[in-house]
Amino acid sequence: MADLATTLSRIAAAPDLAALDAERVAALGKNGWVTALLKTLGGMSPDERLVHGPEVQGKRSTVASAIEARKAALEAAALAVRLATERIDLSLPAAETPTGSVHPVSQVMDELAEIFADLGFAVAEGPEIETDWYNFTALNFPEDHPARAMHDTFYLDSHDETGKPLLLRTHTSPVQIRAMMKHGAPIRVIAPGRVYRSDSDATHTPMFHQVEGLVIDRNITMGHLKWTLETFLKAFFERDDIAIRLRPSFFPFTEPSAEVDVGWSTEKGRRVVGGQEGWMEVLGSGMVHPRVIAAAGLDPDEWQGFAFGTGIDRLAMLKYGMGDLRQFFDGDLRWLRHYGFGALSVPTLSAGVGA
Ligand code: DAH
Repeated sequence: MADLATTLSRIAAAPDLAALDAERVAALGKNGWVTALLKTLGGMSPDERLVHGPEVQGKRSTVASAIEARKAALEAAALAVRLATERIDLSLPAAETPTGSVHPVSQVMDELAEIFADLGFAVAEGPEIETDWYNFTALNFPEDHPARAMHDTFYLDSHDETGKPLLLRTHTSPVQIRAMMKHGAPIRVIAPGRVYRSDSDATHTPMFHQVEGLVIDRNITMGHLKWTLETFLKAFFERDDIAIRLRPSFFPFTEPSAEVDVGWSTEKGRRVVGGQEGWMEVLGSGMVHPRVIAAAGLDPDEWQGFAFGTGIDRLAMLKYGMGDLRQFFDGDLRWLRHYGFGALSVPTLSAGVGA
């Protein structure tokens, strides 16, 4: 049978918690030697027990506290090792730590804000959950007009106070109404943001981004519209050879309405914006319909203006050369590292919005 001195020296030498527990079992476990001694007390006479009882109990408590002490020492040593190995040196150069990037959509939104700020436009916002009135009715979409169905609207289960279902806005145009109602006229705003339509393929995602532009003032003409869009596209694509073409079109909220094409050309086998080899559609636009101005609470005999709208994701694809819209929203780190922008490369007109 083991003796106290051997057990105590083995406990003191236990290299880890597992070895220490083995010593505990050997001494204090069901078949341990201290337990065996304790059992002998039962068979002793009261006089013998008076002598041996304290002796055996003393061994038991000496072993138990030696185990406790060794356990505390082993745990303290383990913690010290962890603290040493898991230490972070905050003075390490930042380049050695992973960094995020600015998504091309955010980048283009910043570029738009910068370009239009220079032309006197503020940035306006509206909610992504809209009412039927702001998204359609105030924009002169007649009730039951097929254009409402064309937008492939996502409807929600909740209703507004008129009993119509709430919806995810299908375009940024409702921000026109909200901005006019909030700020009155004259007004110059752009409204970038998320929009939603039930649609999905290589060039359509159920959520995408648009930017709306709105100018309301006295004596505004389509000439102002054309100059503004030309100036914007030149600044955005950073080329002077931008050509645009306005084609008659229809939107319920503008009259007359025009679709805007931009000229493209081929450079190193790639189609780029600029030149006039061919045309592609980039914007919808027009003179704000008098009914829209009236719906927003302004007098259409006093105020008129123009509006335009376009897809931000598409602008990003045209400028930075991505092929598949769906990858914009996959969150694939390789894509984000390749197409993302540095957090500090803020677009400015003086340094070039191209980043
Ligand atoms: N809201 C239109 C759409 O989503 C885009 C648009 C066209 C906006 C003409 C406008 C505009 O402001 O004048 O297709």
